[in-house]
Amino acid sequence: MIEQLDQLYQDALTTLETAASTAVLEAWYRDTLGRKGSVQLLTRQVGGLSPEERPAFGKRVNEVKEALQQAYDGRAEHLKLAEIEAAIARDTLDVTLPGRSTTHGNLHVATKTLREIYKIWADMGFQVFRSRDVETDEYNFELLNIPQHHPARDMWDTFHTLTPGVILRTHTSPGQIHAMRTYAPEAIRVILPGMCYRYEQITARSEIQFHQVEGLAVGKNITFADLKGTLTSFARRMFGEQRKVRFRANYFPFTEPSAEMDVECILCNGNGCNVCKHSGWLEILGCGMVHPNVFRNGGYDPEEYSGYAFGMGPERIAMLKYGIEDIRYFWGNDLRFLEQF
Ligand code: DAH
Repeated sequence: MIEQLDQLYQDALTTLETAASTAVLEAWYRDTLGRKGSVQLLTRQVGGLSPEERPAFGKRVNEVKEALQQAYDGRAEHLKLAEIEAAIARDTLDVTLPGRSTTHGNLHVATKTLREIYKIWADMGFQVFRSRDVETDEYNFELLNIPQHHPARDMWDTFHTLTPGVILRTHTSPGQIHAMRTYAPEAIRVILPGMCYRYEQITARSEIQFHQVEGLAVGKNITFADLKGTLTSFARRMFGEQRKVRFRANYFPFTEPSAEMDVECILCNGNGCNVCKHSGWLEILGCGMVHPNVFRNGGYDPEEYSGYAFGMGPERIAMLKYGIEDIRYFWGNDLRFLEQF
């Protein structure tokens, strides 16, 4: 019986050496050391031995079991390492391969122009004041000295909502009233940027939505000279130190007197070209001294306070600056256009 046991031991060791996968190894364990395995089966035959033979056999059985268990553990460890190595070899990663490059986004040309404008006004002490895109007729027109049937309303074709009296703002000027009502009776120096909406035929020159940057300065003893000086220095910083500017008298209901400011054409330097229609000048903003009625509506006494306001179109400024010939490019989402800036 002991010889049989030793033979079994030798055979089991040999098969164990050839177990090449975890599955085979587990099958070996079941067949050899398992509850119904060969060692167990042989052990059960101990009853056929004489009482003198039994202790020696029992001792040998334990030795064999222990030795096989150790051999099994060793093999299992070996297989585990081999499997890890195989997995590493299989999944090699070539770190020298060139990666896929990511595409860089960039700011929209309107955003860039707006930020440039904000920066210049911030340097001159103007802070940003934001007001809503959805306005009332009262703020957009009436409080700005444009009553119901005033002919000047034709200047702004309006988008109405289903709620009577609620419209999309046609300009950023209603922000002037909001700012005044917020700060009265303090002095004010703000710019009011935002999107405006007009019910218009879309063409190369006009869009139904566009930005404006409004400006408002309120205080005591503010004069038209302050308006001219401040806007001139804005234009020089925006378009170049040597750039000439001029003011032309104009009409706006919310300012008196009112003017428009032109800069010397930045494409032909005033010599005359298609963009400036051979005049040598480009119109960039409307401005004027705040009308007494607007002051009253904002909560300021026009006898005591004075101030100026202005309104400019950043898209228009960007068109002049970058030679963009069609305003429809701005919201057309064509990457070929957007990526140029
Ligand atoms: N709101 C005017 C427009 O949309 C622009 C404007 C003109 C604004 C004169 C002003 C101003 O503040 O003083 O055409």
